[in-house]
Amino acid sequence: MYDIGKMFDLGGKVAVVTGGGDGIGRASCEILASAGASVVVSDLSPDKAKVVADSIAAAGGKSAAVGCNVLEDADLEHMIDFAASTFGTVNILVNNAGMGGGGRENPFKIDRAYVERIYAMNVFAPWQLCKLAAPHMQSSGYGSIINITSMSSVNNDPDMAIYGSSKAALNHLASN
Ligand SMILES: NC(=O)c1ccc[n+]([C@@H]2O[C@H](COP(=O)([O-])OP(=O)(O)OC[C@H]3O[C@@H](n4cnc5c(N)ncnc54)[C@H](O)[C@@H]3O)[C@@H](O)[C@H]2O)c1
Repeated sequence: MYDIGKMFDLGGKVAVVTGGGDGIGRASCEILASAGASVVVSDLSPDKAKVVADSIAAAGGKSAAVGCNVLEDADLEHMIDFAASTFGTVNILVNNAGMGGGGRENPFKIDRAYVERIYAMNVFAPWQLCKLAAPHMQSSGYGSIINITSMSSVNNDPDMAIYGSSKAALNHLASN
């Protein structure tokens, strides 16, 4: 097992992770906390977010939980405000919450509402959060944005067409 705290020092930094209650998001919260960051664990499920924040605190880290549905603009604003009021700023944003894929996305068989939902979650929410978090990063003098994308963004799988194209858009958002 690597000692993350010796490899990276994020002491004094404040991280916000979307979809932090499970999977890659939970792992991101735990690794950021083990490197010393104060971590805001956000999730659609406030209960799941609290379980992760409590486990980080029990291990000696600094963490707070907040419910946030990334499909709701008001929730995005509340999450960033919550991070700033709880820990003072936002230095690190992990755009993790995402949806789609699973090989069921033949573009000729799915409907517009599904496509709009995937793009809302995988592209618009991360973009909105970049806009909301960036002023805190600029005023604090330290900023890092991590977008969790997918190999589907570069592979040509017709049954992942919508998920893959949304993640390709997210790649492009990060490269500009
Ligand atoms: N799991 C994989 O194999 C894989 C592969 C490549 C990329 N990814 C990407 O990694 C990210 C995380 O995937 P995962 O499989 O770990 O996630 P997951 O399916 O385990 O979900 C993580 C969390 O997201 C939360 N969530 C669901 N809808 C939400 C919403 N509207 N707002 C806020 N939170 C919400 C869930 O409650 C859950 O706790 C996604 O962006 C996904 O596209 C995953």
